[in-house]
Amino acid sequence: MLELDKIYNGDCYKKIKEIPDKTIDLIYTDIPYFFTTGGTSKTEMGERIKKLNKQLHNFNEKLNNNTDPSKHHSIRIDKYHTENKLNVVSMDTGIDYKILDDFCRVLKKINIFIWCNKAQILDLLKYFVETKNCYFDLLIWAKTNAIPTNQTLLSDMEYCLYFREKGVKINNNYDLKSKWYVSGTNKKDKEKWLHPTIKPLELVTNHILLASQPQDTILDCFAGTGTTGVACKNNDRHFILIEKNPIFYEIANNRINDLVDCIGQYSMFAV
Ligand SMILES: C[S@@+](CC[C@H](N)C(=O)[O-])C[C@H]1O[C@@H](n2cnc3c(N)ncnc32)[C@H](O)[C@@H]1O
Repeated sequence: MLELDKIYNGDCYKKIKEIPDKTIDLIYTDIPYFFTTGGTSKTEMGERIKKLNKQLHNFNEKLNNNTDPSKHHSIRIDKYHTENKLNVVSMDTGIDYKILDDFCRVLKKINIFIWCNKAQILDLLKYFVETKNCYFDLLIWAKTNAIPTNQTLLSDMEYCLYFREKGVKINNNYDLKSKWYVSGTNKKDKEKWLHPTIKPLELVTNHILLASQPQDTILDCFAGTGTTGVACKNNDRHFILIEKNPIFYEIANNRINDLVDCIGQYSMFAV
């Protein structure tokens, strides 16, 4: 079993195999989005992700071509780089849906929130509703200040699917049961934690409080900057987080554990 209240830097497709069957109460995750037109569509989010992917790959290239660690001593990423090649992940290629079988295996009962983009909704509904017979809800984060667009509807909504199998109880709180949440795009969080798809802590907290109990164990396989971990830590829930990108892993680890600010060195990724 992976240790509780820890974030792991690794590939969740492999790491999840170390979690025994039926040990997780809730999965709360925000999967890499899938963009169909030429890899990344022309939405504000798509453009941000495309830019970040490029920056990450350039950074990766630079580090991997530099064999003298002293030359990049000012970059704290060194410690991950000295032995292994830095392995950054593209953030616009979606997920391999085989991981959904592992999600169901590790959960005591299917109880799972998945943030996704529009192109992924149908696949997820098919899997959880058609093959697993789950109830579902479509939860919305509506953004009040989306960037104006030309000839397309605004990208002012994000989608979170909540699936639960029959018998999974939610907490009876009127506010937590709301299906929508309205706020500005969380520009401050994006700037602070450098992640283009970071989710509002308040909303993540509401969802976790709705669908879990104190001391429950919550898994997030695509942890990003660790928003799920912070919500769990603040609300007496245990967590297991997995993040493949060493930069976001370090940011998440520091954020959750209130460690020194590590952001300055990654300012080239400002979103
Ligand atoms: C949509 S973001 C999550 C953002 C997060 N909700 C937050 O508030 O910061 C998805 C994350 O999954 C990570 N990721 C992609 N493939 C992965 C894999 N195979 N294993 C673990 N993490 C992965 C990406 O690096 C990215 O940070």
